[in-house]
Amino acid sequence: MLILALETSCDETAAAILEFDQEKKTFQVLSNIISSQISLHSPWGGVVPMLAAREHSKNIFPVIEQALTASQKKLKEINLLAVTQGPGLIPALLLGVNALKTLAYFLDLPLLGVQHIEGHICANLINQKNSGCLNCFPFPRLALVVSGGHTQLILEKEPRKYQIIGETLDDAAGEAFDKVAKLLDLGYPGGPIVSYKASQGEKILNKEKFSLKKLLTFPRPMLKSPNLNFSFSGLKTSVLYFYQKIKKDNLSKKELERWKKLICYEFQEAVVEVLTEKTLSAIQRYQPQTFFLAGGVAANQKLREVLQKKLIEKYPQINFSLPQTALCGDNAAMIGVAGLYQYSLLKKESRVNLFKNWKTLSPDANLKLEKC
Ligand code: KG4
Ligand code: ZN
Repeated sequence: MLILALETSCDETAAAILEFDQEKKTFQVLSNIISSQISLHSPWGGVVPMLAAREHSKNIFPVIEQALTASQKKLKEINLLAVTQGPGLIPALLLGVNALKTLAYFLDLPLLGVQHIEGHICANLINQKNSGCLNCFPFPRLALVVSGGHTQLILEKEPRKYQIIGETLDDAAGEAFDKVAKLLDLGYPGGPIVSYKASQGEKILNKEKFSLKKLLTFPRPMLKSPNLNFSFSGLKTSVLYFYQKIKKDNLSKKELERWKKLICYEFQEAVVEVLTEKTLSAIQRYQPQTFFLAGGVAANQKLREVLQKKLIEKYPQINFSLPQTALCGDNAAMIGVAGLYQYSLLKKESRVNLFKNWKTLSPDANLKLEKC
């Protein structure tokens, strides 16, 4: 069967076509098209919801057409539709949901609403060959979701029964990267820029062989707390205070640039350490058989390296997955896989009901994961 998936929860308009083998529960991503709006929003230092919606309205159908062309399939061959229902920005979600409701009505197709975070988790099921299977990773599965809006440790004891066992009390990890980039005047989105500057900072430290610790250490928030929650807003404030302090020293442009690289390095070290240690605590406490990393921040090279190293060292028996870097940010392939996952667990009667979704499906800015 063929599924067409659409993602418009924030600032990417994305469409994908996947082929699904219902018996084997395996899939192949045939195409995955992403139209990014980064250049549109960067002058504003963040995503402007109404601008995002305007862009989605222009891009949705061209992106769907590109996805069909790239997959060499025709719209009339599609058997199932899936669209991000939430969480996300309502003006952006509305466009995507309404577009697929229209297609569902005209083509008389079943339509699924997908939870965006479940999509990020499902990106782990897509292997390097852009194929995968829904049953390949044993349960319980633990996911660390780190995106622009979420930082959560999510336990999935059995298929699609999710339990949030830890989450941020304030800023999300990606949000902290974005805010630090903003206060250091590095631009938007912050994650990739801060991590690039951090790697330059690391090169300085290696070359000059000096210890940054004496000059600068940021806190590791909630590292020692007994629960699995996170907090990143105090860390961001520490960056702000330190930056304000050194700016008073009338540094040359070159010195200031050097400091920015060192600040990014130390900030990233703090975030990665907290995320890694909390993950290790969660594994110790809940003994999952599988670990997934998910969300935009999963593209962070340092986080990937450190998590992988520590996990393999401490829990060599665990099934460990990192999504392809290209599939960490928002995309429709992950929405397609999450759609197939949901569909594969539905009973016959519920599948029939999906044909009515063109009437009833509505976006939900705070849509939650299925609870256990
Ligand atoms: O999952 P995502 O694409 O969108 C949401 O659902 O929020 O995540 C976007 C977030 C942004 O905050 C961005 O700065 C962050 O992911 N990000 C990164 C990196 N690439 C993207 N953060 C750290 N390092 C990166 N390499
Ligand atoms: Zn996302």
